[in-house]
Amino acid sequence: MQNFDYQTPTRLVFGKGVIKKLPSVMRGFGKRVLLTYGGGSIKKMGLYDRVKELLKDFEIYELSDIRPNPKYDPSVLDGVKICKEKDIDVILAVGGGSVLDCSKAIAAGAKYDGDPWDLITYKVKAKEALPIVDIITLAATGSEYDMGGVISRTETNDKIGYMDPLLYPAVSFLDPTYTFTVSAKQTAAGCADAMNHIMEQYFCEDSTILNDGFMEAGFKSLMINAQKCLENPEDYTARAEMMLSCTYGCNGIYSLGNSGSGWPCHGMEHALSAYYDITHGEGLAIITPGWMKHILSDKTVDRFVKYGVNVFGIDASLDKFEIANRAIEETYKFFESINIPMHLKEVGIDESRIDEMAKHVAENEGLENAWVPLSEKDIADIFRASL
Ligand code: NZQ
Ligand code: ZN
Repeated sequence: MQNFDYQTPTRLVFGKGVIKKLPSVMRGFGKRVLLTYGGGSIKKMGLYDRVKELLKDFEIYELSDIRPNPKYDPSVLDGVKICKEKDIDVILAVGGGSVLDCSKAIAAGAKYDGDPWDLITYKVKAKEALPIVDIITLAATGSEYDMGGVISRTETNDKIGYMDPLLYPAVSFLDPTYTFTVSAKQTAAGCADAMNHIMEQYFCEDSTILNDGFMEAGFKSLMINAQKCLENPEDYTARAEMMLSCTYGCNGIYSLGNSGSGWPCHGMEHALSAYYDITHGEGLAIITPGWMKHILSDKTVDRFVKYGVNVFGIDASLDKFEIANRAIEETYKFFESINIPMHLKEVGIDESRIDEMAKHVAENEGLENAWVPLSEKDIADIFRASL
């Protein structure tokens, strides 16, 4: 087991109706609030009105229309401008991971005099950031419990995971009823995203019985509950367990003491959604089986055997490589069963920019240091196998 030094400062407030605590929580941070949200889902479900009513004694400024794969320009830059002009005390992010990620970059940019891109690209380390409170409405990213945000810059095809302990939300409200309205497509994509977060921690050199058990339970919870949420979008118990399984995804708790994996599928998917603006979870699901097949070897087979036997119940007495290949097949079939398009062509990606994307990933994502190192050619091969 590896050494670790771990702290997650985020307060989680979980369950039906917990939003009633919002005013008292917000009072602890100040009066001037930047309310950030996306393209309108929070208005349709009545959450926007509820937040405005609860915060009627606060001074509220708004940044709306934050898009999936949130953009540096306009969203981050606009938010930073409002924070500086209005001397904002706290950001309240209401929506999915994109709204929250964008708000994290704004929180750091608001306290920095230069171009916020310096922070996102790690040229400069932020000294402080505004506090963030969020009401997460989509079970997927785990952004509500981690210190990262992913920001896209269209003109350079960059999609960068920006991490800093200053970016942990101070308080995250998780009410599963707010996820009842999430579409089947986003429910499935959220499940695939969270499953991949666990895979990125599971497929590594060293793990423990404890971590493997925790992660294998995470996989099962996500698969079983995603099916239930798709069958009945208002199944509270399923939405609740789905939400918590996703929340644990990215803050390291699933794999304390494990050696790292280098997060290869995320490194590759960032290029897909930077170049083609596709849904992150779908991109991950599409490339995961191809990546698994590509890295299966004598070195990795035992991890696949454990995954296959403990997650999918494959007969442990079979040949190791047969178990591994069946596990990969089961992974593919699960994603297919929740109606994820399983080929890049189905989400509008063809051969034309594969080499360019592979080069971009090889130069920017450090996958030569992944558990199974990936060269530019490996990356291109995985993309091609996923067409
Ligand atoms: O924009 P609105 O109208 O709110 O609609 C959104 C959006 O169209 C909709 N939605 C959200 N909650 C809803 C809802 N629709 C109905 N009812 C609700 N309750 O869903 C659509 C997608 O929202 P988005 O926020 O983009 O989805 P998600 O939460 O999956 O976030 C994806 C982004 O997070 C990044 C991804 O790369 C991507 O940019 N990630 C962030 C991570 C992190 N911070 O740790 C880790 C992940 O690996 C991931 O990279
Ligand atoms: Zn992800």
